[in-house]
Amino acid sequence: MRIKGKDVTIRPLKNSDRKNIALYANNKKIWQNLRDIMPHPYTLEDADNFLEIVALEDPVCTFAIEFEGKFAGVCGLNLQPDIYRNSCEIGYWIAEPYWSKGVATEAVKCVTEYAFKTLDKVRVFTGVFEYNKASIRVLEKCGFEKEGVFKSALTKDGKLYDEVRYALLR
Ligand SMILES: CC(C)(COP(=O)(O)OP(=O)(O)OC[C@H]1O[C@@H](n2cnc3c(N)ncnc32)[C@H](O)[C@@H]1OP(=O)(O)O)[C@@H](O)C(=O)NCCC(=O)NCCS
Repeated sequence: MRIKGKDVTIRPLKNSDRKNIALYANNKKIWQNLRDIMPHPYTLEDADNFLEIVALEDPVCTFAIEFEGKFAGVCGLNLQPDIYRNSCEIGYWIAEPYWSKGVATEAVKCVTEYAFKTLDKVRVFTGVFEYNKASIRVLEKCGFEKEGVFKSALTKDGKLYDEVRYALLR
């Protein structure tokens, strides 16, 4: 399964991605914007654990992002249970050398379309740290709407932050 955008391709992760994942995910600027489930520092063993979990997904929900044929990040959907089953949460990170080239924007568009068309979901949402202006811009460029601010909902690196929630409906 591959989804092709203009310059970006979305494809399932493979074991040979381990070195690139460990290389690029080991970046505090990335960790600062994600949940603490993502380790820092990030090692090859962390990449292997991640790939082991992802390999069990059915349907595939976590993808490698390629830019001009090279590994450039990860984008995934977190399917929601029970009464939230028509929703999924989107998450993504881009390797720092590829920032500000439109990679996240294209990847989010591709994976959101996969959620709507292939997985038949109705709603894709995410929560962003209040200071993550680049990610907020990505979501706005993809047509997501701001739904609200959850005050002091997030704790990162010992400090409290507001969470800004965005969603796109099919
Ligand atoms: C946030 C992130 C995903 C953006 O990826 P990217 O590939 O650089 O994003 P794009 O190039 O598609 O778009 C970025 C937009 O943000 C803008 N931007 C970048 N830094 C900004 C800042 N400090 N303030 C405001 N806008 C900013 C860019 O100019 C661009 O907008 P434009 O096209 O209108 O010029 C990437 O920086 C990243 O992986 N960060 C760490 C992990 C993370 O934040 N994940 C998302 C969690 S919600």
